[in-house]
Amino acid sequence: MKVNHKHYRTTWMEGSTVCLIEQNQLPFKFEVFQAKSYKETCHAIKTMIVRGAGAIGGTAGFAMAQAFLEAPSSNGEAFLRQAKKDIEATRPTAQNLFYATQRVFEAGKSSENSVKSAREEAQKIADEDAESCRQIGEFGNELIKDGANVETHCNAGWLAFVDYGSALAPIYAANNLGKKVLVYVDETRPRSQGARLTAWELHNENVPHYILPDNAGAHLMSQGKIDMVIVGSDRIASNGDVANKIGTLEKAIVAKEYGIPFYVAAPSSTIDLNCSSGKDIPLEERSQEEILYQTGPNQKGELEKILVCSPGSKALNPAFDVTPAKYVTAIITERGIVKPNSDSIKNLFK
Ligand code: MRU
Repeated sequence: MKVNHKHYRTTWMEGSTVCLIEQNQLPFKFEVFQAKSYKETCHAIKTMIVRGAGAIGGTAGFAMAQAFLEAPSSNGEAFLRQAKKDIEATRPTAQNLFYATQRVFEAGKSSENSVKSAREEAQKIADEDAESCRQIGEFGNELIKDGANVETHCNAGWLAFVDYGSALAPIYAANNLGKKVLVYVDETRPRSQGARLTAWELHNENVPHYILPDNAGAHLMSQGKIDMVIVGSDRIASNGDVANKIGTLEKAIVAKEYGIPFYVAAPSSTIDLNCSSGKDIPLEERSQEEILYQTGPNQKGELEKILVCSPGSKALNPAFDVTPAKYVTAIITERGIVKPNSDSIKNLFK
């Protein structure tokens, strides 16, 4: 997608450096972060300089390729296995991270020219992610009527993938075709990926939108102001249960109550056939700091953290929840739109 008329992906490799759009600085500053080693790339994933299922996957693939570049000639095998473990330990919920790391590891290990093969595989994963999201946009566009009011949660836009996004791709496709779409963006506390990232993306693409407090969705749905909900996912179990940003479950239950279609948009690389249900998906807990403090620019434009809760209170910060398949109308993938059940999901991979 374009920023200031220039096309960017969220993650790419230049020489041995992994370049990332610095998402912690957005929407206040647009910066590119350079990770010079696989360990620096791990740090970038852990500290959420890069975040979102596909963007984490693309970056993890590049990190694994960096490890092949850095591996010593003696003891290379042990170095690579440790690097794989380090990369996989950065974010536990995102399926794309494991999928990408494994693919690049195997490509490098099974080749005479391991560095070249690892790099090529990492690039292929990034390209596939972008292309899958473009196709999700095309399939999802068919579901969006002219004049639709769409609610979305967190950020599943292009910043969360290598390009295009998952939940926002159908909205961009519809908008580009001239359909009128109004997007209600859940602010998505505690890190406010909706208010900061989704709103920034939609503003850049001239898509009309309102940021909604997290607790306003049910009210709007009860008033008939929402026609459909589209969210992304960090991991989908083989029975169609969906892990996504905390708060997704509530939206899905309320949408069902009011008869509003609830769609999940995700590339097939987010589906984990080894998880038979949502109970098997590891869910990340994050630091209480994210709740107790908020970050924004001070008068000099520097990002500053301020305490926004009662001093001395502790906070709980579950970062993801699982929405059971029964609340999901359909899953929009690059291979088509499927019902959230084991048979339809398995058919996708035939
Ligand atoms: O904590 P984050 O920002 O890494 O949250 C993950 C997500 O981006 C969301 O759950 C998103 O909606 C999934 S689609 C990339």
